[in-house]
Amino acid sequence: MASVCCSPPPMPCRRPRKFSSGNRRIRCTTEERQALFRRIAPVYDNLNDLLSLGQHRVWKRMAVSWSGTRKGDCVLDLCCGSGDLAFLLSEKVGIDGKVIGLDFSREQLSIAMSRQRLRTKACYKNIEWIEGNALDLPFSTGYFDAITMGYGLRNVIDKEEAMKELLRVLRPGSKASVLDINKSTRPFTALFQEWMIDNVVVPVASGYGLKEEYTYLKSSIKEYLTGKELEQLAMAAGFSNAKFYEIAGGLMGNLVATH
Ligand SMILES: C[S@@+](CC[C@H](N)C(=O)[O-])C[C@H]1O[C@@H](n2cnc3c(N)ncnc32)[C@H](O)[C@@H]1O
Repeated sequence: MASVCCSPPPMPCRRPRKFSSGNRRIRCTTEERQALFRRIAPVYDNLNDLLSLGQHRVWKRMAVSWSGTRKGDCVLDLCCGSGDLAFLLSEKVGIDGKVIGLDFSREQLSIAMSRQRLRTKACYKNIEWIEGNALDLPFSTGYFDAITMGYGLRNVIDKEEAMKELLRVLRPGSKASVLDINKSTRPFTALFQEWMIDNVVVPVASGYGLKEEYTYLKSSIKEYLTGKELEQLAMAAGFSNAKFYEIAGGLMGNLVATH
């Protein structure tokens, strides 16, 4: 696990464990997920805008707001992809703050870096991109004042471990804000989500040659957790409080977990 696209993080880091050594199944799955996000990377932002009609920007602002990020904070955007949440965090913490965007896809990170280069506002210089694994974060305990994770938790292979890592690198009293598609318990919402994926998302993604990649959305939601289950997951990991908010009419959801 190396820091790419930028110098190593200027912080006390523990030595990264070799991820999934000795576990072929997990290793294979991790590589498959990485490959999936590598293929999606070039069109990911366009598709997000198209498929959510631009609404993902609003949901991401809400996630940042729920994270409780303040001026001067040092914050983490986990599974940052091309950096939407990291850029929003950067505006919040300002030039005296620090944002780290971490992802295991080099392709997503290089898009994030290109976007950063195109932005002129001084605050965006406070973002550093790190290639790393959400299940084995290269940061010391209690390092961050807040964490966001957008559409990442659903995609990690070990959600319990991811939650424990979130808790470990958070300063006591601070928050993790986890935005994702909601696995709704309401039959109508769940049916509508499935219909949208089959009849809108997959056909549109097929036009970009990404049919298989976006068909995966359906199984990832099925294997994901409901709001209640996410709250339980956070509490079991050791968070002192966890509250799940449904947004976008229940199609999306945001877990707010307090250390
Ligand atoms: C659906 S994208 C979300 C990107 C961005 N957060 C957003 O909201 O637009 C999920 C991201 O999670 C990353 N990811 C998945 N599993 C990961 C892991 N175990 N460690 C680090 N990144 C991971 C993928 O590379 C991908 O960029």
